[in-house]
Amino acid sequence: MHYLDNAATSWPKPEIVYESLDQGFRQFLSAKRGTSQTSRHGAAALDAARQTLAELLHVPDASRIVFTGGCTQALNLAIQAFPWQPGDGIVISALEHHALSRPVRKVAREKQLEFYVVPYTDEEPFSLDAYEQLLRTKPNIRLVATMHASNVIGSILPVEAIGRLARQYGKYYLLDAAQSAGALPIDAQRFNADMIALPAHKSLYGPPGIGALYVSENVPLQTFMEGGTGSDSGEHAVRLVVPDMFEVGTIPMPQIHAMAAGAEWVMETGIETIRQHETRLLQHLLDGLKALPEVIVYGHTHVERKTPVVSFNLIGKQPKSVGELLFDRYDIALRAGFHCAPMAHQAIGTLPLGGTIRASLGYYTTLDDVDALLNALGHIGDVTHHSDRKDSLSEERQPR
Ligand SMILES: Cc1ncc(COP(=O)(O)O)c(C=O)c1O
Repeated sequence: MHYLDNAATSWPKPEIVYESLDQGFRQFLSAKRGTSQTSRHGAAALDAARQTLAELLHVPDASRIVFTGGCTQALNLAIQAFPWQPGDGIVISALEHHALSRPVRKVAREKQLEFYVVPYTDEEPFSLDAYEQLLRTKPNIRLVATMHASNVIGSILPVEAIGRLARQYGKYYLLDAAQSAGALPIDAQRFNADMIALPAHKSLYGPPGIGALYVSENVPLQTFMEGGTGSDSGEHAVRLVVPDMFEVGTIPMPQIHAMAAGAEWVMETGIETIRQHETRLLQHLLDGLKALPEVIVYGHTHVERKTPVVSFNLIGKQPKSVGELLFDRYDIALRAGFHCAPMAHQAIGTLPLGGTIRASLGYYTTLDDVDALLNALGHIGDVTHHSDRKDSLSEERQPR
C-alpha cells in the first residue's frame, strides 16, 4: 500500500513506539495509585513522559503538561473549562478543524459569547491586519484560538506574530498543534502560547487515543470532568492542582508511555531532518501535480510555508470517487472529502465540490509512493480525456 494519509494518522510507527505500548501495557499498572513496584514504575514513567513533552514544547515546568484522550479532548478542555463570562469574545482562524470550531460554537451558544473569524486569502492564510483590527476594536475578546498548520491545505499560520499580538493586547492564546507537533518546532514561550493542544498519533508517531494540553499557570481553567485522581482520595472534591485536577480516572499508561517514545524518537531523529525529507517529497509532489493539466491544487505552494499536506481535485470529478478509485485500483491510501474542516473548504471554494482529495506525507513516505500517486492521477486524467482508450489503459496498468 502507498500510504499518503499521514495528516489523519501517521503510519507506520517507529518500532520503539510499538514496543513502548506493549511495555506500558504489561509493566505499568495503576500508576500513581497502587503500592506495588509496577505502580511505582508507572509513576516514574508518567513523570518521564511529562518531561519529554515539556522538552518538545519548550515548557519549563513539566507539571503544566496534562494528558488527555487526544487532541480533540485537549481542545475541549481548553475551550469548555475556560472561565467565560457572558459577552466575552473569542477569535479563531478561517481554516479551523471541527475539534476547535465545534467546542467554540458550543460555548458561544451556551454562554452567550461572540466569536470572530479572521479571513483567509490564498497567500496569507491568516490576515494579521484584520486580526489586529479585531483586537483593537473588540475589548470583549479574551481568547485567541488558532491552528498552527491547516489539515486541509498545509499552510502554516504566523503563530509567533499571532501570539505576540495576543500578548500585547492582554489576550490568552490557545494553539491547536494537531498538524505541527513533531512536524514543526514549537516553543510555548516564543509563541506566547498560554495553552497548546496536541495529539500523539500524527507527527509524533504515537498511538491514537492520547494527547496532551499544555496549560500555563496564567490560565485559570476550571475542572472539566470530575473523578478520582489518586491524590487526596479521602476528599469529596478534586484537589485544584494541575495536572491532577484534569487527569481524572485511571491513567492510560501504555498510551502515555508510547506517546513519549514517539516524541523522543522525533527529537532524536530531529524535526529538521524529518522536515527536510518531507519537504523534498512535497516539492516533487507539487511539481508533478502542476504538470497534470486536469489537476487543481488549492492554497499556496511555497514548501517552506507548508506542512507536507496537499489538497487538490481533478476537474469535473468527485473527490470521493477519485479517492476510492485511487485505493481500489492503485493501492493508494489517502483521504477525500471535507477532512472535518468545512470552514477551510468554504475559504478555498471547495465546499460545493464535495471537498478535496488530500495527500499527506510523513517520514516513512518514499519517492515511489509519491510517483505512484502522480502516475495514477495521470492515468485517471488520461482516461477522462480519452474515454475511448479506457479499456486498453486499464489493461496496461493493473492494480498492485
Ligand atoms: C487541525 C486539527 N485539529 C485537531 C484535530 C483533532 O485531533 P484528534 O482527532 O487526534 O483528536 C485534527 C485531526 O485531524 C486536526 O487535523
